[in-house]
Amino acid sequence: MNQDELKKAAALAALEEIRTLAQGAIVGVGTGSTVNHFIDALAGCGLRGAVPSSEASARRLAAHGIPLVSLDDIGAGTLPFYVDGADEIDPGFNMIKGGGGALTREKIVAAVARRFICICDASKKVAILGNFPLPVEVIPMARVQVGHEIARLTGGIPRWREGFVTDNANHILDVSGLAIDDPRTLESELNQIAGVVTNGLFARRGADVLLLATASGIERSARPG
Ligand code: 5RP
Repeated sequence: MNQDELKKAAALAALEEIRTLAQGAIVGVGTGSTVNHFIDALAGCGLRGAVPSSEASARRLAAHGIPLVSLDDIGAGTLPFYVDGADEIDPGFNMIKGGGGALTREKIVAAVARRFICICDASKKVAILGNFPLPVEVIPMARVQVGHEIARLTGGIPRWREGFVTDNANHILDVSGLAIDDPRTLESELNQIAGVVTNGLFARRGADVLLLATASGIERSARPG
């Protein structure tokens, strides 16, 4: 199987995971090529609606006739689950996300979900996070200053994702050269820098379930501990 077939297999496994719960439910939906397969599979499975984590996912859901729901509509309630991909996931189910630039909305929707189901092909499973450059969403006027501060704080090399504007009208710095042995601490520290909207570490709210597509089939595992 090629990588796209593996992504599709992970997405279909997520549909099986949620199928009985999905009837009449409102679910959180992530962003990216793996999630696109999930959205396509969701069509006709009886959802009441979906909270999308990006304009791109919203458009794809709408094209399938799946009602879009905002977090305001949810009020003080929660979503039963949030399904999304990852750029890297470590053994503790901490993730780097934001390769598609949707990290902030992904983090917001994930925060109101009771269960985060991560769908990935096997290439995303790593021993330590950081080989994939860590995306950081920044307020445009602060981009250069934030870059200097990230370099000073982490020793990493921030690079402006030039030409890319997020759904929130912000910029992205992709930080390479990191070996992230304490993702929870780094996630918090980066978010303290003035001008950072959020960073792509999902450690304080990591995945609960991983559906990993490998050449020999789907490996399902729950967050350790
Ligand atoms: C988008 C994300 C995606 O989940 C991540 O980039 C994985 O994408 P793909 O499924 O295309 O490999 O965080 O912001």
